[in-house]
Amino acid sequence: MEKEFEVVYFENNEYLDDPRFVQTLQKTAGVIGLGLNVTKELLDLAPTLKIISNVSVGYDNLPLEELSKRGIMATNTPDVLNDTTADAIFGILIAAARRMTELDHYVKSGAWTELLPPELFGLDVHHKKLGIIGMGRIGQAIAKRGHFGFDMEILYHNRSRRPDVEELLNAHYVSMDELLAESDFVCLMVPASLETKNLISYGEFSKMKRTAIFINGSRGQNVDEEALYDALQNGTIWAAGTDVFKEEPLPAHHKLLTCKNLVTLPHIGSSTAETEHKMSVVAAKNLQTGLKGQQPPNLLNPNIFLNQ
Ligand code: GLV
Repeated sequence: MEKEFEVVYFENNEYLDDPRFVQTLQKTAGVIGLGLNVTKELLDLAPTLKIISNVSVGYDNLPLEELSKRGIMATNTPDVLNDTTADAIFGILIAAARRMTELDHYVKSGAWTELLPPELFGLDVHHKKLGIIGMGRIGQAIAKRGHFGFDMEILYHNRSRRPDVEELLNAHYVSMDELLAESDFVCLMVPASLETKNLISYGEFSKMKRTAIFINGSRGQNVDEEALYDALQNGTIWAAGTDVFKEEPLPAHHKLLTCKNLVTLPHIGSSTAETEHKMSVVAAKNLQTGLKGQQPPNLLNPNIFLNQ
């Protein structure tokens, strides 16, 4: 980017308090980054902005309608992260079922002084029912691992049916209630929107099996964290794993951290060295194309071109 444009850098979470950021925005044509909370107020400060390039597949930080109204392009980085993210989510799933993070601590803390007590045994993953809420590209990559690698039966719930996935992975489309009641693993993979706020709350946990394991690989706002905490503490479900939280970074004394049966990761799903690099390249290409006035490959609001 530096070869073609003047680039100004800002550190994570610091830009909002940095007066240089506001000054820079006033004459900026493009913004590239991860998770910048784009508000109307922020856009008002950026009269020359043409494009915002997210280095992520999720774009819940971008108000697409407002951006389209102002003629500002928005882009994301889909596909290159599907398998990496699915690996991470499957890793969390296995870790939660086999209690790997808890047992890792058990070994390293020196507590392993006798034959492992049966209270510490976990649950099987193979041949179980895997329910996926949100059968998008990453959901499919998770389902593929479950079906081909672990002989799991795949249930899914999605806005639309996916006959291709049903055929390839023998996946069964079911209602949300059926998915919650039948699945051994409930994996949440829907993008965040106004409709998905606290999609999983007390009512949903109470419909799950007591031996269910819940995984959130989507966005923190999709899950009611109080309800998750209670479900884990009261044995409403058996365990959970999450890569995402309502507030990130998670505050140090958050009460979810006291749950032994919760596997936590710091929003790392797509972030391997290899995939972060690929995402950066995709995002840079999007930005570069947009700044030249052409339609970027991963444009999220193509209506701004159609209206021209
Ligand atoms: C990660 O959460 C992403 O949206 O890419």
